[in-house]
Amino acid sequence: MTGKSFTVLGIETSCDETAAAVVRGLAPGPGEILSNIVFSQVEAHAPYGGVVPEIASRAHLEIIDGVIERALADAKLTLGELDGIAVTAGPGLIGGVMVGLTTAKALALGSGKPLLAVNHLMGHAMTVRLTHGVEFPFLLLLVSGGHCQLLGVGGPQDFRLYGSTIDDAVGEAFDKTAKILGLPYPGGPAVEQAAKTGNPRAHELPRPLVTGHNVRANAEFSFSGLKTAVRQLHDRGGARIEDVSAAFQAAVIDILTDRTRTAMAMFRKDFPTGNVLVMAGGVAANQAIGTALAKLAKDEGFVTRIPPPALCTDNAAMIAWAGVEKLAAGSAGDPLSVSPRARWPLADI
Ligand code: KG4
Ligand code: ZN
Repeated sequence: MTGKSFTVLGIETSCDETAAAVVRGLAPGPGEILSNIVFSQVEAHAPYGGVVPEIASRAHLEIIDGVIERALADAKLTLGELDGIAVTAGPGLIGGVMVGLTTAKALALGSGKPLLAVNHLMGHAMTVRLTHGVEFPFLLLLVSGGHCQLLGVGGPQDFRLYGSTIDDAVGEAFDKTAKILGLPYPGGPAVEQAAKTGNPRAHELPRPLVTGHNVRANAEFSFSGLKTAVRQLHDRGGARIEDVSAAFQAAVIDILTDRTRTAMAMFRKDFPTGNVLVMAGGVAANQAIGTALAKLAKDEGFVTRIPPPALCTDNAAMIAWAGVEKLAAGSAGDPLSVSPRARWPLADI
């Protein structure tokens, strides 16, 4: 590694994991993860089949201090040895974001270290630089519980939106499908597991907005029709949960593959020499989706980069790394008056 490397504490509280991590490195990466603590609230939310914002913010508040202490202890570092304190300032559940941001502000004030307000989606988007040192530009398929987007990423401030969902996010579709089928929360891993022993051709499910069915110039997604079809199929009775899961996952794969192919053409116009496809967000942890996208990429002359599953789902290492990127780009930190944001699209950066 040439040049000065940065050591940053990251804090993530925008959904249902309370996380803190310390990362060291220099753009474009790869970086070194010195510690990575993720406390999942899954059990607290499981009875409700989804994240309950009130429960989430209370749980963040109860454990955030301990999680940060452990991240620093695991990294064998004190606050004074850091170059900055990075924290998710949005988008996300506002109560949770406020807990993390307020904690980070207090630490920054107390230690005199720069506060680095990070966009959660930026964290997901930059993870492949932390793990693989991927250079700009790259095509990003960002698939999580709250987001489903295809973006051309030309630099840390250059995001071009090629398509997003007009209704549900893909992770949300997995979670709702799991709920319909009586599978445990979070739905993604449960549906993927059930699909392994199911027959994807046992049932015909719709592929909304797939080219040829309903041709669109851009790379938009729609999942609500698919979710309704899963509900109707299940309500009719007699369908095996494994088969419905497999048919659902096959439809998702077809939709993601088709939209990504469209976005590849848009990306090539913007970046003629670009050839890297990156997947990020919780749904990128799905092996079947990863395999299908890797095959598409190969056919289209792209290479695929997907972070390991534990860095696809929410974590603070990605937030710390986004902080490293900010420092490397010359940021002196954000003012302590920075506000939490429930909505904060990447294309606004
Ligand atoms: O990125 P993430 O941890 O949180 C958000 O920012 O939304 O993503 C969580 C989402 C959930 O909807 C979860 O069901 C989904 O990612 N997910 C998966 C898998 N693992 C997590 N979806 C499909 N297959 C998986 N293996
Ligand atoms: Zn996320």
